[in-house]
Amino acid sequence: MQIRDARFLTSNTEVAKCPAPTLPEYAFIGRSNVGKSSLINMLTGRSALAKTSSLPGKTQLINHFIINDDWYLVDLPGYGYARVSKESRAKWGKMIWAYLSKRENLSCVFVLIDSRLPPQAVDLEFIEELGERGIPFVLAFTKADKQSAGKTQQNVEGFLAKMGETWEELPRWFVTSASAREGRDEVLAFIDEVNQQVRETNGNA
Ligand code: GTP
Ligand code: MG
Repeated sequence: MQIRDARFLTSNTEVAKCPAPTLPEYAFIGRSNVGKSSLINMLTGRSALAKTSSLPGKTQLINHFIINDDWYLVDLPGYGYARVSKESRAKWGKMIWAYLSKRENLSCVFVLIDSRLPPQAVDLEFIEELGERGIPFVLAFTKADKQSAGKTQQNVEGFLAKMGETWEELPRWFVTSASAREGRDEVLAFIDEVNQQVRETNGNA
């Protein structure tokens, strides 16, 4: 897929205020600092579309971007940052789960996992809740440039093996690096594929 156009639309805290749910939508979630905003910039080829920072907690709102006037990308605030008050965490949970559960045009969630780490409880718990709510998702392992391909592979396999203990079917997954532009074609081809499925289902292919 060619990215001809990528534009920021809105930032907000409520699903009711999100752009009209008329296009397929892909939301990016994962631990704070895992690289959600960077991956959005890499995919769209716009280095400053989503705001990034070396400090965790940069993204705080539900941010909508429109791509090719055809589908939405959504940058979400991350979870699992230790230095966050109980109140902020509760507020995050309320906002995120309301959005993920109620957003009718949400086609797929990308759960970003740090490819450098062994399976993290906070990621597995988040994924578990997506499963309980029946929200479709895929995995994107991030920052693959930070270590050897062999080490990345080992961590991917470790994560999938851990999921295999409780999940009957494993999700699709992608290895990515925003710095090395790795995984771009694969992720965009997947989005293209889902966009087509959505349109066929809606009867306006
Ligand atoms: P929050 O919005 O705070 O939840 O973080 P985020 O998940 O959006 O992460 P963000 O994209 O802001 O990136 C966090 C840090 O990781 C930044 O310093 C990025 O430059 C760095 N980073 C992100 N992706 C990659 C990657 O693929 N490779 C490398 N080496 N660094 C990356
Ligand atoms: Mg961010």
